[in-house]
Amino acid sequence: MSTLVVVGAQWGDEGKGKVTDYLSARADMVVRYQGGNNAGHTVVVGDREYRMRLIPSGIFHDKACVIGNGVVLDPAVLVQELDYLAEQGISTQHLRVSGAAHIILPYHIRLDELDEDRRGTLRLGTTRRGIGPAYADKSARIGIRVSEYLNRAVFAEKLRRNLEEKNRALAALYGAPGFDYDVVFSQYQAYAERVRPLVADTSLLINQAIDRGENVLFEGAQGTLLDLDHGTYPYVTSSHPVAGGACIGAGVGPTRIDRVLGTVKAYTTRVGDGPFPSELAGAEGDWIRERGREYGTVTGRPRRCGWLDTTIVRYAARVSGLTHLALTRLDTLAGLERVRICVAYRRDGDIITDFPQELESLEACEPVYVDLPGWPPFKEPDSSADLPGEARRYLEEIEERCRLPLALISLGRERGQTLAITDVFGDPPACRNQAARI
Ligand code: IMP
Repeated sequence: MSTLVVVGAQWGDEGKGKVTDYLSARADMVVRYQGGNNAGHTVVVGDREYRMRLIPSGIFHDKACVIGNGVVLDPAVLVQELDYLAEQGISTQHLRVSGAAHIILPYHIRLDELDEDRRGTLRLGTTRRGIGPAYADKSARIGIRVSEYLNRAVFAEKLRRNLEEKNRALAALYGAPGFDYDVVFSQYQAYAERVRPLVADTSLLINQAIDRGENVLFEGAQGTLLDLDHGTYPYVTSSHPVAGGACIGAGVGPTRIDRVLGTVKAYTTRVGDGPFPSELAGAEGDWIRERGREYGTVTGRPRRCGWLDTTIVRYAARVSGLTHLALTRLDTLAGLERVRICVAYRRDGDIITDFPQELESLEACEPVYVDLPGWPPFKEPDSSADLPGEARRYLEEIEERCRLPLALISLGRERGQTLAITDVFGDPPACRNQAARI
């Protein structure tokens, strides 16, 4: 019985939705700790495919699910997802939302769009869902928390004050029309009634679940290189996908986290702009994109594709303290004659094995590859020993280069297409702090 954080070890879209869905079968509680509806999770159950943006993947197992305080929540999207799940016959009775999460309002979305358009070639490639402006308001201490949103008088006052300011900014900076207070207020009051029954002190609920010895899974959105501090700034999201983000975004202490699973795609993808050393600009990149259906879940944008880069995964291991890896999409690469792994960078004649902190430095990096034989398409194996020898060699190379054991291998979109190697919910390490409540 233990706690596990699942993080993306690349630029997001590593397949965390599939991995968390698979692991949710063993979890008692699944917690989202950051991001908002910029994330896209695709979960395949039998012949049905579900696309979610906000609600944790654990919902498909009818587990206790939490949207933590670190999330920015668009009430309109939450209501859409609640309706969608109800139509699909999936229960949301165990879903809880933190009263301390901040809400996304229409002016955040409008500002995200206008800011992006204004940046022109310097755009960040955001998902235009209002994520950055909502987190900016949170940091500026003018954001609106879910608990304030549900208090009619407090919401009315804060919305009026914010709208005055935002409407002035929209007009002055962009000559854009503002928002009408009455329209926004009444629309969001209607959503509030759907949110109200879900709201709780989720930090308390999570810590109580840990006290009871339950399996708690913290589900990160996006990936390490999109982290506001540890990613390829400024081409990042405005929250903390790294494992430490789970502590802040869920309200648990670091001593209560037992394991951290880094999800790694067998190759690398990136949406949005910014440097990407192992990117494949030509036919090989197109082949991976088409084979892997690499188009954004939220925006539909084609993803940039490239070879696996273990410099990035080792960096993710460092900043999140990864204990294990989950490798996804091994099946997608089947059929190539040769596969490559970027193991280091060459910059100004030097070999660099540590992922550089500065963007300018990363831009100047050339990939250093090791080449390995590709593997043919294969039938679903019962164990990793049944995989083609070349695929096993690829996995061994990854474990060696990343200095981490593989706990899971995903070989397809469905739950069953997964090889479990290690029990990531095994007994907690002896040093775990059991006493959270004093
Ligand atoms: P934002 O999170 O919408 O502000 O976008 C900031 C950056 O994060 C952009 O490069 C987005 O493409 C990227 N991003 C945000 N969410 C995801 C995701 O779930 N997968 C991959 N990239 C993402």
